[in-house]
Amino acid sequence: MIPVLTIDGPSGVGKGTVANIVASQLSWNLLDSGAIYRAFALAASNRNVLVDNIDELLTLASNLDLRFESEPSINKLSIYLDNIEVSSELRTEETAELASKFAMIGPLRESLLVRQQKFKQPPGLVADGRDMGTVVFIDAPFKVFLTANVEERARRRLKQLQDKGIAGILSQTLEEVRNRDERDANRKHSPLKPSKDALIIDTSYLTINEVVTEVMALVKA
Ligand code: DC
Repeated sequence: MIPVLTIDGPSGVGKGTVANIVASQLSWNLLDSGAIYRAFALAASNRNVLVDNIDELLTLASNLDLRFESEPSINKLSIYLDNIEVSSELRTEETAELASKFAMIGPLRESLLVRQQKFKQPPGLVADGRDMGTVVFIDAPFKVFLTANVEERARRRLKQLQDKGIAGILSQTLEEVRNRDERDANRKHSPLKPSKDALIIDTSYLTINEVVTEVMALVKA
């Protein structure tokens, strides 16, 4: 039995950071499922495949040449699409926005399912996203859902972008986060929602270390 910890939540909540730290503390594998949706969106946009061209989207999904290379010792994850490093390009708001639009398509989500489930390898997996606990790893023994108020999430997202040298203004980031919340939570297929058996943590007034401590306590218990 390979243990899985799912960490779901809306954009800007800090799932990626928490998942990264917890995976490294446990020495477990890491799945950043958002990166798969972002990479798919980038590949589709590079090839001018539109959201309504389901056949081409599905062909692209099954042939997607995507590779993750992690260097846990320096906390680095490099992502290659068609053998080209795209880690920074994937982090932009434009790619996120596009990913959120493609992520509404049910058949596409199904065709990306097995690719995500293959990350479940010994000694364990930490998987972050929107539907890790509700769909992709429904039997996971450990499930967490992170929340935070939208203003705080916009502030965190902006800081994350600025740390990567990407400029932005708070009002615009707030608007983008709100739009993405709306789309991710209200879509028909695998909408963003906590699994019934998930531990819900409101991180609005917690530091990253406090969130990590709560998540680690769940796994250790
Ligand atoms: O976590 P992220 O911001 O990198 O995700 C980008 C978009 O991908 C997000 O707005 C919705 C989509 N996504 C999804 O639908 N399901 C997931 N498990 C992960 C991401």
